[in-house]
Amino acid sequence: MTETQKSATLSLNGETYELPIFSPTAGPDVLDIRKLYAQAGVFTYDPGFTSTASCDSTITYIDGGKGELLHRGYPIDQLASKSHYLEVCYLLLYGELPTAAQLEDFETRVTRHTMVHEQMHNFFRGFRRDAHPMATLVGVVGAMSAFYHDSLDVTDPWQREVAAVRLIAKLPTIAAMAYKYSIGQPFVYPKNDLDYSANFLHMCFSVPSEEYHVNPILSRAMDRIFILHADHEQNASTSTVRLASSSGANPFACIAAGIACLWGPAHGGANQACLEMLKEIGSVDRIPEFIERAKDKNDPFRLMGFGHRVYKNTDPRAKVLKQSADEVLELLGVEDNPLLQVAKELEQTALNDPYFIEKKLFPNVDFYSGIILEAMGFPTSMFTPIFALSRTVGWISQWKEMIADPQNKIGRPRQLYLGETMRDYTDIEKR
Ligand code: CMC
Repeated sequence: MTETQKSATLSLNGETYELPIFSPTAGPDVLDIRKLYAQAGVFTYDPGFTSTASCDSTITYIDGGKGELLHRGYPIDQLASKSHYLEVCYLLLYGELPTAAQLEDFETRVTRHTMVHEQMHNFFRGFRRDAHPMATLVGVVGAMSAFYHDSLDVTDPWQREVAAVRLIAKLPTIAAMAYKYSIGQPFVYPKNDLDYSANFLHMCFSVPSEEYHVNPILSRAMDRIFILHADHEQNASTSTVRLASSSGANPFACIAAGIACLWGPAHGGANQACLEMLKEIGSVDRIPEFIERAKDKNDPFRLMGFGHRVYKNTDPRAKVLKQSADEVLELLGVEDNPLLQVAKELEQTALNDPYFIEKKLFPNVDFYSGIILEAMGFPTSMFTPIFALSRTVGWISQWKEMIADPQNKIGRPRQLYLGETMRDYTDIEKR
């Protein structure tokens, strides 16, 4: 970030104020309004942060107009086709692609942390069996701060590093345990001779009474889903993690806050909502009815998996996933899956509809991920936990970046107050 000679001039109540302008390495210029209140006595108003940069970052860049997503400069489609999830984790965390030795060391560190404290098994047993796995995930990840006391001190870089590795390593184990618990099967311990994605499938789908062989094409598809969800700059859950962490809260509490935020249907919960919508549509002949509902201002229904705050073009992650869906369904011999037919037809209908064209609503990452996950055997309730475990590295990378930043201060937005001005308390008998 460099402050240029450029500045903007604000005229207000007969005074003028110079607002410095920062030039990013990519993307639009940024007005620096940090001193505005002190100098001019006014706040800015931007609910939903549609025009506000809340931080500077070097991790992820999105060009919403072009439909471009870069991690540390590398395009997501190259990472999805050439890299693998743990390498992408390294890139997000440390800024560069690892050498072979660095990668081996990182993989060993993550692999050595995949088991959870045995006492945590009892903690799981306190949940109802029919709890949504996201509810379990929020609770158990928050509770990690009660189990791992030696990585809570956020002022210690070594403890931050240990917390980061622990979270990346244990999230698949915890998500798989949440699933196993919900279906009444025994927890499956991680197997450290499997890679990250294969190990997750093993913990979800194997049972102690049978041999389970992970299909390498499915573990590759799983890995690609993990890569595509790994980070997405300052989205709602990442901003939640940053805001929670700005108070100095411990990393496990902050990631639990991110998971809670991700759960909503406008964010990570959209993958579950999207598949449920495709099932509700059921057949291609019902698509026009649902398109009309999505366009009707008096109907709260929205086309799930469509639209994005930043992308005003196809989400590049959706492009990769569409291809992946074709491959996985063909492998499983279910390429004529009716949901895939509905999804493809719905996509085409929406892309040619003036409402969606005018509002620049394109398929997002959640449009095809659910079809793949369902074909792999996951229930819809596991879709958002899978998003959460993939995104943990993004949250952790952003959290580490923020804590290491000397400018880091507690987040504290202001408000446009429209309530009552001061008035005297009225005794109850006079109200
Ligand atoms: N179906 C129908 N209309 C839509 C949709 C949709 N999916 N998305 C936006 N619109 C309309 C919306 O009604 C509004 O119309 P108008 O200007 O006439 O009031 C206009 O498009 C702009 O929408 P917005 O809600 O102001 O835009 P936003 O940037 O605040 O919301 C969004 C972005 C992703 C929340 C929204 O597009 C949406 O609700 N999509 C469906 C849920 C979804 O798929 N979410 C996953 C997002 S990607 C993964 C992730 O980030 O977790």
